[in-house]
Amino acid sequence: MTADEIREKARRYLMPSVIQYYQEPVAVESASGLRVRDADGKEYLDFFGGILTVSLAHGEPNVVNAVKVQIDRLSHISTLYPNEPIVAVAELLAGMMPAETGISQSFFVSSGTEADEMAVMLAMSKTGRNELIALRNGYSGRSALAQSLMGHSNWRVLPQQIAGIKHAAQPDCYRCPFGLTYPNCELRCAKDIESLIQYTTTGEIAGFLAEPVQGVGGFVVPPKEYFEVAVGIVRKYGGLFIADEVQTGFGRTGEHWWGWQHYGVKPDIVTMAKGIANGLPAANCMTTPEIAKALPRQTLSTFGGSPVPMAAARATIESMQAHDVRTRNKELGAHLRDGLLALQAKYPHHIGQVRGLGLMLAIELVDDELVGNRTPNTAITAKVFEAAKRRGLLIGKGGRWGNVFRIAPPMLISQAELDEGLRILDASLAEAGAH
Ligand SMILES: Cc1ncc(COP(=O)(O)O)c(C=O)c1O
Repeated sequence: MTADEIREKARRYLMPSVIQYYQEPVAVESASGLRVRDADGKEYLDFFGGILTVSLAHGEPNVVNAVKVQIDRLSHISTLYPNEPIVAVAELLAGMMPAETGISQSFFVSSGTEADEMAVMLAMSKTGRNELIALRNGYSGRSALAQSLMGHSNWRVLPQQIAGIKHAAQPDCYRCPFGLTYPNCELRCAKDIESLIQYTTTGEIAGFLAEPVQGVGGFVVPPKEYFEVAVGIVRKYGGLFIADEVQTGFGRTGEHWWGWQHYGVKPDIVTMAKGIANGLPAANCMTTPEIAKALPRQTLSTFGGSPVPMAAARATIESMQAHDVRTRNKELGAHLRDGLLALQAKYPHHIGQVRGLGLMLAIELVDDELVGNRTPNTAITAKVFEAAKRRGLLIGKGGRWGNVFRIAPPMLISQAELDEGLRILDASLAEAGAH
């Protein structure tokens, strides 16, 4: 099919609710390394990795081979029958959890939404309570529970909510919900959780679910003391801390395997998905044996931990370890950050902030009235986004107003490819009239 035929069939046979990027969506046909090709043969440099799922590179040979071998041997059987792929990944992941967390047991599912659902089930079972604290500007997925946990109006499809979930203020220093400035704010956003619990719950909470860096929210990095204070309050009221590592996991934020490790706290439950299997559908919820055994009944996810995605996950994780992606992402991330800061210096009226951790960086586009005006500028965002696509660069969008560019390329990107993408971004900003 040509790209036009694909787009036409997508319009006809996929529901209009299926979100697609760009005025004329890119009809992707194939991809290899950092390059994506559309059905008309146009090539793009991929700075978004299928929304942080293609964690290493497109078609990474170790993962492709592992999938081919596994699909010939056993493609599916369900978790009713333990098999080597699933236990091998569970063992690898247990080894990636810092010992002091005590986290060693896995429940595999197929999506981040399901992983977060499992985490909530565990927290409720362990505590015998139902109320939860989540964050404004957080994203948790698309089930009824995940939508209720989410503090992101763009993604709320229906008004119906699951009761008992309260949303604490977003820990966003660029747009402080209290109009304060860090560090003079004395972590008001974190401390406010105590008031939220006291005023809006029974005081007996099951847990607190948060992303160490708010992904869909626009790569918002909470201040470094945030989680120590927030989790301290949550524990005081008997709640568990669920770290949603769906975007931040697997070394993405540099230096550590997990995002929470940047903050000196330890979670009780961890969820992961996206990059776990270099693009194959797999996800996982991990916790301690003590919390795991609190679930009163046995349960099943039909495709959870299926052998082919698990073989991909094993090869992905082993490649991540072999490439030392934690160090690599820290170093490449520093290089990318420098490049984005140089763009901010060149376009100070429109690039309001450069932020993120490791190889998970964002720029927020704001109004051009005067430097320091933080009004979201969606018009210029749209122009730069389309220009970058025309010039052959795929990037992500995010943030409450969709005025944030999210850059999280596959981790095996080279410095030369990062520089190439930065040049395209520069030219796209100039074309869109940024200054
Ligand atoms: C932090 C976070 N949690 C959960 C999810 C839901 O994952 P999925 O779309 O795989 O259900 C996402 C998806 O973007 C996410 O970013």
